[in-house]
Amino acid sequence: MSRLDSFIRRITAQRDILDHISAEVAQIDGAVVELGLGNGRTYDHLRERLPGRRIIAFDRALAAHRKSTPGPEDLVLGEIRETAAAMVGMRAALVHADIGTGYAEKDAMTLTWLPGLTAQLLRSGGIAASGLPLDHPELVPLVLPASVTEDRYFLYRRK
Ligand SMILES: C[S@@+](CC[C@H](N)C(=O)[O-])C[C@H]1O[C@@H](n2cnc3c(N)ncnc32)[C@H](O)[C@@H]1O
Repeated sequence: MSRLDSFIRRITAQRDILDHISAEVAQIDGAVVELGLGNGRTYDHLRERLPGRRIIAFDRALAAHRKSTPGPEDLVLGEIRETAAAMVGMRAALVHADIGTGYAEKDAMTLTWLPGLTAQLLRSGGIAASGLPLDHPELVPLVLPASVTEDRYFLYRRK
């Protein structure tokens, strides 16, 4: 599969997953955590699907489009492993993590801390959606929407 096809499938899976979980997340108290603000596209989609909900976005550096840049109180810059660790126990309703790189060795490093960090950011019953698999005893896999191929995106509920 070409990288263009792969990109399109990833973006479509993201959109379908976020649409699939939004109504449920709207019923769960707590902020939304966006790990990997990037251009701000998924941040903007979440903002549209969850009007009024606080969304705290994390990235190394700000590179988002001006129209989808969070206010300074909801933007945390720096290494997510360190910045988000300062917020464990915040009882988030949703953690959306889009910090995969496509480089197996880099993603393997990320996977040494991302599953545990995600579990600690979520409240019990909260949801995690991730481009990387989050293998953790507190995170129970959820069924994906029919349009999303297994292993393209990952969905969990915190025990
Ligand atoms: C694929 S982009 C996110 C795209 C975003 N979902 C969108 O719709 O525009 C991944 C982002 O995560 C950030 N990132 C990846 N690993 C990170 C880390 N360990 N700490 C901080 N930021 C990280 C990168 O800087 C990049 O901006």
